[in-house]
Amino acid sequence: MASDNSGMNSAVSSLDRIRREAEAELLSVCDEATAESFRIKYLGKKGLLRELLKNVKDIPEEQRREYGAAANQLRADIEQKFDAAPWGKIEQKTAESFDPGMPGFPFPHGSIHPLIHIRNQIRDIFLSMGFTMSYGPEIESDYYNFEALNTPKHHPARDMQDTFYISESVLLRTQTSPVQIRVMEKQKPPIRSIMPGRVYRNEEISARSYCLFHQIEGLYVDEGVSFADLKGTLLAFARRFFDEKTKIKIRPSFFPFTEPSVEIDVECFLCKGVGCSICKRSGWLEILGAGMVHPNVFKSVGVDSEKYTGFAFGMGLERIALLKYGIDDIRLFYENDARFLNQF
Ligand code: PHE
Repeated sequence: MASDNSGMNSAVSSLDRIRREAEAELLSVCDEATAESFRIKYLGKKGLLRELLKNVKDIPEEQRREYGAAANQLRADIEQKFDAAPWGKIEQKTAESFDPGMPGFPFPHGSIHPLIHIRNQIRDIFLSMGFTMSYGPEIESDYYNFEALNTPKHHPARDMQDTFYISESVLLRTQTSPVQIRVMEKQKPPIRSIMPGRVYRNEEISARSYCLFHQIEGLYVDEGVSFADLKGTLLAFARRFFDEKTKIKIRPSFFPFTEPSVEIDVECFLCKGVGCSICKRSGWLEILGAGMVHPNVFKSVGVDSEKYTGFAFGMGLERIALLKYGIDDIRLFYENDARFLNQF
């Protein structure tokens, strides 16, 4: 009697096990091939669920009917779940009831991140003017980020950029300007290059500032490059990027690695200079810093500043994207919220 019961018990537990396994496997059925191998394994003529019925001979006669019913029920359940799965009956569906008028399954797809979109537009404008692209590391040495850019230790300009230091001489770059140094070390003038990338500053996170952001640096070095070239190039850029009638305003500023240094404003593209909430009623939007490359910078890379001159500029992508798309919180760029990103 004891052995009779154990035959029934083990047969029932193998039914349970197969039910669990089949249900788990059904979750990974995702195309015709996996559906077909599931069907062969469980539901086919030699499938596991048919094999189960063969166990009947191990079961005491008076319990066979109960076992048979349970095995049949299991087969019916699995068959029903398989048929209900989206891939279960793919062949039949395509053959018998394919309706070309049915709307398709929505297929979620990504979109280009607004910052990448802005970067691509800026990149294409400068590439068409004959600039090349250059890149440098985000983990940078103090030398490239500051020293070689005419910003020695204890220079007050270092305070403007709250730096994340990794060690005394290694840091997360606070600007893309160190890539200027790397480019000039490798390449002799003439140089025309733009350098996009991430930069980091230890700033309090708010709607206006974040601990990382993106810049595009520009560098043009050759014989006889003048401030007029800087002005002409950046005006041409602004007119292609914003609007062909855009005006720019050049204000004196200070950066250790350029002399003279300027900041460039563009006429507010929303109110056309009349004054609105985006430009804080001024009619102008500040978009970049620029200047003529400082002779000390040329000295640090061995470029003869008697022979060559150049201009450099740097702009923040977030700021331009916020303005261009009318976004009011910089953190949205980093939250990966599909409801935000899908709008671009
Ligand atoms: N690196 C400067 C900044 O981060 C911008 C800049 C680049 C200014 C090149 C002048 C020349 O603010």
